Amino acid sequence: MEFKSVAEFEKGIKGILISEKEIKAKIKEAGEYLNGIYDGTPLLLVSILKGSFMFLADLCKEVKVPCEVGFMIAKSYYQGTQSSGIVKIEMDLQQNIGKYHVVIVEDIVDTGRTLNDVVKLLRARNPVSLRVVTLLDKPDRRIVDFKADLSLFTISDLFVVGYGLDCGEYYRNLPYIAEFKE
Ligand code: IMP
Ligand code: MG
Repeated sequence: MEFKSVAEFEKGIKGILISEKEIKAKIKEAGEYLNGIYDGTPLLLVSILKGSFMFLADLCKEVKVPCEVGFMIAKSYYQGTQSSGIVKIEMDLQQNIGKYHVVIVEDIVDTGRTLNDVVKLLRARNPVSLRVVTLLDKPDRRIVDFKADLSLFTISDLFVVGYGLDCGEYYRNLPYIAEFKE
């Protein structure tokens, strides 16, 4: 992806789907949800990079119980619609999660493959508990049966960018979620 001008870059933005204000309000609620569950026991918020970096940054500010943050890069490999069962960890957590309540923080659940595999992988490491919070959910696109514990926004089958989500690595810096114009 290459842009000859800012105007050309902006042409990719079809319209704002979820505003900064709406995101902020929902993240406050998500913080309250987490504050209501955890109570000072070791809590680890795990961001799946890169898409969830902005969501994690804003969400952790609403968490009032002691917590740590961790980052991982994971990619799932599929043959057709079948999971190869392999999730490739391109960057792993530094923490041994055995003593933590773990909250996976994801940008979007689309087919469900990535989270399905990441959850399996992290469960096998025996955390005290494991929950998944996703900013966006596209249930119409699901291939693998997967449901997050908390989903902030449900959207229809659209390709979206912004607030961490990219198209060809661009648009992650938009402070809102936009529909992408192909
Ligand atoms: P999965 O299909 O649920 O495994 O999602 C895999 C990844 O695809 C997500 O974590 C996102 O990084 C990316 N993705 C899915 N839908 C979109 C979208 O609409 N915009 C940008 N990235 C997306
Ligand atoms: Mg992602």
